[in-house]
Amino acid sequence: MRWRRLVLRLFLAVATALLTLGLLLGWWDSAAMDTDGTRQASPVFTPERPSLGAAVRDFFGIQPEPERQPIAFTHKVHAENRIDCTSYCHTGAAVGPVAGIPGVKQCLICHRTIATDHPDVEKIATYEERDEDIPWQRVYGYPAPAHVKFQHAPHIRAGVNCSTCHGEVEQMTVAVRAVELNMGFCVDCHRQHKASVECIACHY
Ligand code: HEC
Ligand code: HEC
Ligand code: HEC
Ligand code: HEC
Repeated sequence: MRWRRLVLRLFLAVATALLTLGLLLGWWDSAAMDTDGTRQASPVFTPERPSLGAAVRDFFGIQPEPERQPIAFTHKVHAENRIDCTSYCHTGAAVGPVAGIPGVKQCLICHRTIATDHPDVEKIATYEERDEDIPWQRVYGYPAPAHVKFQHAPHIRAGVNCSTCHGEVEQMTVAVRAVELNMGFCVDCHRQHKASVECIACHY
């Protein structure tokens, strides 16, 4: 029986080595790919990932760390000042598919005059001087190979709260992923509300 244990050990060792290698390689390519938030879907339908690392990360739902955000934006302070989600920052959510992440211009609507000596607010001005946008890291969003098309507007029209899909963001400092927006989560609610459960409602 000893050879069996040996084979098992060997298998585990090889699997671990492959996973580690995949993660290492994957993190490099993700750094290059995710920062601008672009999706690079294949024109032909394939759920294939660009690298083993990407497949492993998607499988385990591994996300970038909140510390990687370029500015420690606090939702809590803004919500306490009665600035609601869609009026200045996520204006797209109520009217279109994409909620939108505010850039330098939206921040400066207020921060030309408010809290200008706060170190994180000074960073906004620095981005403006360099004529760069703030390189926010995404917190939600699907990998391109999942071919998901999501639309905010029909949900807001149907009275679904932001917190159903994103948690209590008003209580958060830097936003973290609080809800797993997997297919089961979407389809369960669609069944309850008699919304479409056809594959092409959510996939392209
Ligand atoms: C509609 C106005 C408004 C917009 C737009 C806005 N802010 Fe603010 N921000 C405020 C107010 C009000 C405060 C609280 C200031 C205070 O307490 O002195 C604040 C505070 C802050 C602070 C300091 C937080 C703290 O811990 O005291 C930071 C950092 C900040 N905002 C970053 C941003 C960034 C980045 C953006 C763009 C993504 C942005 N803000 C957009 C109004 C705004
Ligand atoms: C039914 C679920 C649902 C509701 C309700 C919802 N969202 Fe979303 N939201 C999503 C999904 C799914 C994504 C990712 C979409 C994608 O990548 O195509 C997303 C993405 C976002 C993003 C971009 C996040 C990132 O990291 O890039 C913002 C900002 C956002 N939503 C804000 C809002 C706001 C504000 C509301 C309420 C007005 C809201 N959402 C309501 C599901 C929802
Ligand atoms: C809390 C309930 C709920 C959740 C969770 C939810 N949806 Fe929906 N969805 C709805 C409702 C209600 C509608 C509106 C149906 C209508 O207008 O007839 C809708 C509409 C849609 C539409 C437009 C469909 C059409 O035919 O125009 C898409 C696409 C969609 N949802 C995708 C998703 C995806 C992807 C997720 C998971 C991230 C999701 N939904 C999560 C309730 C939900
Ligand atoms: C209400 C929206 C919705 C409907 C309807 C839906 N899906 Fe999905 N599906 C999703 C979302 C969202 C994901 C991404 C989940 C994730 O990445 O965690 C997904 C993921 C998948 C994946 C895995 C893709 C990958 O590579 O990660 C497959 C395969 C899939 N769906 C097939 C189907 C099929 C087949 C149907 C029809 C029977 C269907 N889906 C209907 C929302 C939906």
